[in-house]
Amino acid sequence: MTNKKRIFSGIQPSGNLHIGNYLGAIANWIKLQDEFESIFCVVDLHAITVPQDPETLRKKTLEIAKIYLAAGIDPKKSAIFIQSQVSEHAELCWILNTIVKMSELEKMTQFKDKTQAGVSEGIGVGLFDYPVLMAADILLYGTEVVPVGEDQKQHVELARDLAKRFNHKFGETFIVPKAFIKEEGMRVMGLDDPTKKMSKSATSEYNYISLTDDAETVKRKIKKAVTDSGSEIVFSDDKPALKNLINIYASFSGKTPKEIEALYVGRGYGDFKTELAQVINNFLTPFQEKLAAITDEDALEILRAGAEKVRPLAKAKLAEVKKKVGFIS
Ligand code: AMP
Ligand code: TRP
Repeated sequence: MTNKKRIFSGIQPSGNLHIGNYLGAIANWIKLQDEFESIFCVVDLHAITVPQDPETLRKKTLEIAKIYLAAGIDPKKSAIFIQSQVSEHAELCWILNTIVKMSELEKMTQFKDKTQAGVSEGIGVGLFDYPVLMAADILLYGTEVVPVGEDQKQHVELARDLAKRFNHKFGETFIVPKAFIKEEGMRVMGLDDPTKKMSKSATSEYNYISLTDDAETVKRKIKKAVTDSGSEIVFSDDKPALKNLINIYASFSGKTPKEIEALYVGRGYGDFKTELAQVINNFLTPFQEKLAAITDEDALEILRAGAEKVRPLAKAKLAEVKKKVGFIS
């Protein structure tokens, strides 16, 4: 590997990947892969922290890898691999578990959201420990930059704290990583509720536009998307639903919100929504063609090669960690 700075990011193979995942995460990765030495992971160990079906997990794991590839991650430039194929992640997680505090994990908003106001009855310990595994993912590779959506900022903060704590206790070992969150597209909100982020675990399919939705579905979902009172197309904080739709339009078209407002002066929601669906489909249609052309075999081959490429890095860092904590090798 080269001496460029390293980035690491990952997505769980669960639920349907949506345009929020694309705009908030993957689209940024594509741009960063030229500048950084990039590692992109399919985080299947994270995906089993909630009840899951093994057959679906296998299918989704391959699907995420194919989505990375179809979106433009180039396996010649970046390593793409499956987390469970590099066992050092779980091992480092265990060691980090011994320096993280219960209270730090209890504060994590994603955990609080998933457990409905912190009620932990019936919740697996894996879900509680999720951010520590994420810290292990990041720290194992000497990652400097972690490109994620805004919702993951708190988890990256924890990785920073754990890196510093370990370094302080056992001597300089980990690079302290930084989150990289792009302004636009950083938080795509639900189409049915602009107060909550678009989510792959949403109960209604009208919450999100999946990366695999066909053109008709996109039109139908955009048509049903909630809007604010009034009829003008304006980008403002007191019109959160419209603001979200304009943001999506802007991200896929390359136009600024101001330019979009100007396009729709004197025109109503109807025109705006029809054209928004077109703008989204202009991206999705060619993307889905590429996705369909990637075979399971191709994806598996790339994933194996990716694991081969990153494993030596993970092994070296873990060996260093084990030595520092006093394990005999
Ligand atoms: P998740 O869907 O939670 O596994 O997230 C995968 C990646 O997509 C992470 O980097 C998230 O920050 C990003 N992401 C998820 N949902 C959204 C959203 N609604 N808007 C922007 N980014 C998102
Ligand atoms: N927790 C992240 C999410 O839900 C996924 C993830 C796991 C991740 N490990 C990571 C992201 C390491 C960045 C770096 O989106």
